[in-house]
Amino acid sequence: MGLKPSYTMHGEFRMPMGFPVAGFSSALDYRAQSGDIFIAAYPKCGTTWVQYIVYLLLHEGAPLAGDRLLEKTIPHLEEVGREPVERLPKPRAIKTHLPFAMTPAHPEARYIYVARNPFDCVVSFYHHTRGFAQHYDFAAGTFEDYFECFLAGEVDFGDYFDNLASWYEHRDDSNVLFLTYETMQADPRRATVTIAEFLELPCSSDEATLNEVLRHSSLANMRKDQGRWSSQRPEDCSEFIRKGVVGDWLNHFSPGQAHRLADKFRAGAEASGFGRLWPDIVEAARLMS
Ligand code: A3P
Repeated sequence: MGLKPSYTMHGEFRMPMGFPVAGFSSALDYRAQSGDIFIAAYPKCGTTWVQYIVYLLLHEGAPLAGDRLLEKTIPHLEEVGREPVERLPKPRAIKTHLPFAMTPAHPEARYIYVARNPFDCVVSFYHHTRGFAQHYDFAAGTFEDYFECFLAGEVDFGDYFDNLASWYEHRDDSNVLFLTYETMQADPRRATVTIAEFLELPCSSDEATLNEVLRHSSLANMRKDQGRWSSQRPEDCSEFIRKGVVGDWLNHFSPGQAHRLADKFRAGAEASGFGRLWPDIVEAARLMS
């Protein structure tokens, strides 16, 4: 038996230790409003990147001032609960890792969902889980240990595939924008314009503002400002904005792990139709030897 991270149970849901149970249940009672902007993602799929793009778009390309934390401006709903979110100025921008059915719904709220291939997601989530010793008590955990938990869906915020399937089903809803980390990486400008248009922000055609948004939200720039994205990072673990690439999974996976995750992806894709996502990566994993 490998080492397993520790979690706090919120009903059936695993959450990082230290996330207040009361915050989680009050989050589920938040009543979404017309104009709300939800940034939704399974953990480690590019949530912070999209959060910061949205922040910059709403502030005409001006970066977070001084030593302000992004999580104070765009809080994580199920961490802080309903009340701090209700106090936000409008339009409220809100981060969530919840599956679609648990995310507060309103026909005139907007939902930006970012998906990332599960191979890079599990690698990023492993480094995250090992690093936040106070949340997971997993500093000595290996990738092999973590991979088994991820594959079984026994990690915080639930099963990757359930989360992806729940949002994929709604990808064509008029108030949902479904993005992938990989297409954002391939063309950040296009992704940023798509987000601005979805939010009906006038800056979607303003080159100067877009250039500022792209400059400040670039990997290089966000890496310089690590303290803005995560307030509790211990010194001895990888940085929050770690590598920011597509394909780091190749440095971590054994062929056996690659085949097993590819099989799980294909089974989920058959049931939920998300098979058009990442065909090259899934095929490369299937053929890994
Ligand atoms: P890696 O660990 O693979 O480097 P989340 O915000 O959902 O926790 O996702 C974190 C992942 O997004 C990390 O992946 C991080 O490096 C990556 N990321 C954050 N900001 C980014 C940016 N501006 N450009 C590209 N990747 C970014």
